[in-house]
Amino acid sequence: MKIYYYWSEEKSESKYIELMLVLWAQAFFTFADAEGYDNCHLGFMLQLTGVRLRIVLFYKQQIRYCFPELNLRQGRCAMLVEVKNLVKRYQDVIAVDNVSFSIRKGEIVGLLGPNGAGKTTTVNAMVGLTKIDRGEIYIFGKKLKENEVEIKRDLGVVPQDIAIFEELTAYENLMYFGRLYGLRGTLLKERIEKALEFTGLLEKKKQYPKKFSNGMKRRLNIACAIVHQPSLMIMDEPTVGIDPQSRSYILQAVKELNRQGSTIIYISHYMEEVEEVCTRIIIMDHGRVIAAGTKEELKEMMTSEERVTAELSSASYTLIEKLNKLAGVKESYVEGTKVTVISAKNSKNIRDIFGLVSESAEVISFNVEQPSLETVFLTLTGRSLRN
Ligand SMILES: Nc1ncnc2c1ncn2[C@@H]1O[C@H](COP(=O)(O)OP(=O)(O)O)[C@@H](O)[C@H]1O
Ligand SMILES: [Mg+2]
Repeated sequence: MKIYYYWSEEKSESKYIELMLVLWAQAFFTFADAEGYDNCHLGFMLQLTGVRLRIVLFYKQQIRYCFPELNLRQGRCAMLVEVKNLVKRYQDVIAVDNVSFSIRKGEIVGLLGPNGAGKTTTVNAMVGLTKIDRGEIYIFGKKLKENEVEIKRDLGVVPQDIAIFEELTAYENLMYFGRLYGLRGTLLKERIEKALEFTGLLEKKKQYPKKFSNGMKRRLNIACAIVHQPSLMIMDEPTVGIDPQSRSYILQAVKELNRQGSTIIYISHYMEEVEEVCTRIIIMDHGRVIAAGTKEELKEMMTSEERVTAELSSASYTLIEKLNKLAGVKESYVEGTKVTVISAKNSKNIRDIFGLVSESAEVISFNVEQPSLETVFLTLTGRSLRN
């Protein structure tokens, strides 16, 4: 059993600084992270707020019992984002069909799915742009419906359609958005410079976006969304229709923003982008969440076998016979000088396979095929992501 105590840096609802004593039942349970209680599997907390004492029990990152009752679902223990049973219909189209997911602080979550999957509708609902038919949305532990203004203050949004003012300079655009988020004076100027530098637009600050390439416009749009240094960033297909240089700039920016403390929801229909930047992936199709997990988990879910291919100077049936006798091998075959070996999952026989093929001939190439997210998507939906 361990005791942690620290001063909360967050403003509590009673405006007192909080002293928290968190007792971890460490002898019986393991915790992913002892730094905060965000990741705590099971815990018990005594919270001293001013003169009031509160007892909180939480399990699986959620508050299960609290006395006296909290009037807000305490931010840091609850998930940063919780979407529950979200439904949105447009006439007879169900754009979002009972979608639920949660996002923890520090994640880069990829929302992946083909056009029309319901991604934009989902995030528009999260930023209060779309009225929903059913469901609940909590952001920073607070219900969106009742705390929209407060939540938006700490939210950065890069919408699918670029939203900047063409008749204002890059700098003036940032002034506008900075002021909208309540920044003033020197702090505003500092943050503008920082955002421009971050997006590589410092030298273009006096220029009008009319003359910008799509990639530069997108970067300016991102600068506008980060000027107030939000805790949660939502980026809806930020790399569609832009040049490769801006694209790689944006992907790097996503990672850097996350390192600096922002949690990010990254929407895309590009598998490789999501694979590159995201720590977890939620796959949507036809308005539903069809799978979620880390890319490794998703691939693991979908594959039951491992495949090795080798290009040799010559391939013989004797080799195939030997390969077929190896532990774990289900099947192997030869096509010209190319040998393919299919094994059961986790066979750990790669070294033996390589041993046999390199004994038999000169190895021109040797390839252990990893299943791609494309395969995962294909398996789940029966069609390719791009179609
Ligand atoms: N304003 C709207 N009016 C009518 N239908 C809409 C509207 N916005 C989205 N839809 C429909 O809802 C579905 C989901 O769209 P959307 O959320 O934009 O998907 P995605 O962002 O994944 O491409 C699509 O079938 C789309 O045609
Ligand atoms: Mg969209």
